[in-house]
Amino acid sequence: MEIKTIGVVGAGQMGSGIAQVAAMNGFEVIMNDIKDAFVDRGFSAIEKSLVRMVKKEIISEARKGEVLGAIEGSTSVEDMTKADFVVEAATENEALKLQIFTALDQACREGVILSSNTSSISITRIAGATRRPELVVGMHFMNPVPMMKLVEIIKGLATSDATFETTRALALDMGKTPVPANDFPGFISNRILMPMINEAVYALFEGVGTPEDIDQVMKLGMNHPMGPLALADLIGLDTCLSIMQVLQNGFGESKYRPCPLLKKYVDAGWLGRKSGKGFYTY
Ligand SMILES: NC(=O)c1ccc[n+]([C@@H]2O[C@H](COP(=O)([O-])OP(=O)(O)OC[C@H]3O[C@@H](n4cnc5c(N)ncnc54)[C@H](O)[C@@H]3O)[C@@H](O)[C@H]2O)c1
Repeated sequence: MEIKTIGVVGAGQMGSGIAQVAAMNGFEVIMNDIKDAFVDRGFSAIEKSLVRMVKKEIISEARKGEVLGAIEGSTSVEDMTKADFVVEAATENEALKLQIFTALDQACREGVILSSNTSSISITRIAGATRRPELVVGMHFMNPVPMMKLVEIIKGLATSDATFETTRALALDMGKTPVPANDFPGFISNRILMPMINEAVYALFEGVGTPEDIDQVMKLGMNHPMGPLALADLIGLDTCLSIMQVLQNGFGESKYRPCPLLKKYVDAGWLGRKSGKGFYTY
């Protein structure tokens, strides 16, 4: 099936970024969220990013209009009947994703691939919520999507080779570099990244250093472009906590225990950049 229209479920930081990159690479996009206000917030984020690109003379004003014009907003999963390929990028919560995939399976045409941008949840289990497990795959973009080249492509137990290949080719058509990973908690990226971020939160919790000092050590000492606490704020502390819980449940090892301070911040609604406060204030 030729892919012309991409459905994106979830218009948060990742969903809006995926919609933007798809539209910039010639696809029609349907961007879905549960409320108009969330769809509008997604459009504002895209517009902001495009305005920055116009200012830097990466794209013209006319191109900005074309990209925005290629994206249609939606608050009904039924609209996904128009999609030739779906990327789900809703909140990192297993029960929610299973529910969304069951609904997508019913709404989407036969043969349409349903991918998830999940950071850690089992693709095999998500596929089990549908009647088309061979057409379910992980398509894990990095944040911020317009800037980051990597897309991990995750093969669930039942994912067919054709589904994997189509998804890999789509990532290339979206200007990204696909890397394959097998279906284990956190895949490759978050299995390595998230325990490091969690350890940085422990270092803060135990008073080893201030957020600034912890981040400075990792930037200057390890040549990381961003410190782990600033990166956690960018990712979203709710997402970080959820990924640690998937690692802890999936591997059953105490080394994946989420730091109590991370839990506390999430309880307080301090989710990082998206809520204006995390380890830093925005
Ligand atoms: N933040 C990151 O750095 C990052 C990186 C890679 C992957 N991811 C993954 O991407 C996904 C989204 O993360 P995010 O950072 O964009 O989160 P976010 O909180 O910014 O956005 C999530 C969006 O999903 C929407 N949503 C919730 N239930 C929905 C439903 N039933 N239908 C449609 N939309 C629904 C919410 O309203 C919200 O707008 C998660 O699975 C996350 O693990 C995040």
